[in-house]
Amino acid sequence: MFEPRTRPPACWRLLLLNAAPDTRAREVSHALADLVSMLRDLGAGRVRDLAGQPAGDEEASREQFCGLRALLGFGRRMFDRDVHQPALTRAQRPEFLVYLPRHTAAFPAIPWAEIGAPNAGEADIALQLGGEREATVNCAAVECWKLIDDKSLPLTVADTFSGFGRGDGRGWLEFHDGVSNIAASQRLSALAAGPHPGWMGGGTYMAFLRLAVDLRTWRRLNRSDQELLVGRDKLSGAALVGVDRDARGRAVPVAAAAPGVGASAEERALWRDPPETTDPVVEASHIHRANQNRASPGAAGGLRMFRQGYDFLDGFRDGSPVLGLNFVSFQRDLRSFQHVLHLPGWLGDVNFGGPSTAPSGGHPAPALIELLAGGFYAVPPRATPFPGSKLFT
Ligand code: HEM
Repeated sequence: MFEPRTRPPACWRLLLLNAAPDTRAREVSHALADLVSMLRDLGAGRVRDLAGQPAGDEEASREQFCGLRALLGFGRRMFDRDVHQPALTRAQRPEFLVYLPRHTAAFPAIPWAEIGAPNAGEADIALQLGGEREATVNCAAVECWKLIDDKSLPLTVADTFSGFGRGDGRGWLEFHDGVSNIAASQRLSALAAGPHPGWMGGGTYMAFLRLAVDLRTWRRLNRSDQELLVGRDKLSGAALVGVDRDARGRAVPVAAAAPGVGASAEERALWRDPPETTDPVVEASHIHRANQNRASPGAAGGLRMFRQGYDFLDGFRDGSPVLGLNFVSFQRDLRSFQHVLHLPGWLGDVNFGGPSTAPSGGHPAPALIELLAGGFYAVPPRATPFPGSKLFT
């Protein structure tokens, strides 16, 4: 999932599981080993209910589950002794693996949506499923449920969320998303968890935020205002390099010129990566707020994250679509993620982008996103029989 030149899968499903009450650590460990082994078989086209099917059908099953990817994470709840008696693990909980606040806004500038369910997004275990087709990830999720049911495994499905990536690389705002992500050479240092606690060394931390986007408000903005909020040209994805003023003194975005047809990969990467800027309007845009270490991207204070967003559409309510982004990011610690969303000048004082106070004669930055569900998960490194099996010994 983190390798250079691989794109996030087109279809995504998060399956959240809780251990059944009164379960012992050993039983959860066996259940997870079963689940992971079943998913491995499934990826190879071996479906439990279809053992012994004719060879041609076996090939069809292989095709159906081809490209299935799974990632296992453990949430704050797993370590909660008020929830689990006996305790499920004696391993140390990572310092910033916490529940998202529910009675106040989880982050200063992102309120909870009224339609969000209580504790949505928190669980003992998160299983992220990825694949190129909806049928792959949806059937894999139901195969997990079947296994739990057939073997009376001490796990319950607490919730599930789904999302998709667009073929054109854009999101609901119609801007490109994922234009610039961490360069392959810096990815490991931004992703790999340190040795405290020991069981997480070489793993990573996942943040999951299901964010509703107010598309009506967004579509009322003209193209220039949208570009100033994002920090990129809407059509080409080029980073803004500055701002001009029109005859009425309104800001007009200026984007970097696109590299020529014969431009090298390095020139293209430079074009995608926004330049350092001192222009306060460009500085206030989403991409500059979300990444402020353009001079030395590997620096410890860079608060870099590796993003993988998956859009969703959850039907229509009161005549408007309920839609948004499953924001999924991986980082070496969750403290840096919290900083990005709490620090003023980053995303702590503005809901998405734009200046935190209305410029003279201008409008304040619009509120565009609300939180529907979310949780933090520790993703241990690969291990046998499953990542994080040490937690239960
Ligand atoms: C629904 C909510 C959001 C939408 C629609 C959204 C959309 C975008 C878009 C269109 C870009 C520019 C394309 C690109 O550079 O890849 C971008 C970049 C980025 N966003 Fe968001 N975003 C959202 C929420 C967030 C949140 C909550 C965070 C941080 C926790 C975040 C962090 C970033 C980062 C780090 C970048 C890359 C900046 C760079 O290095 O150039 N975004 N986002």
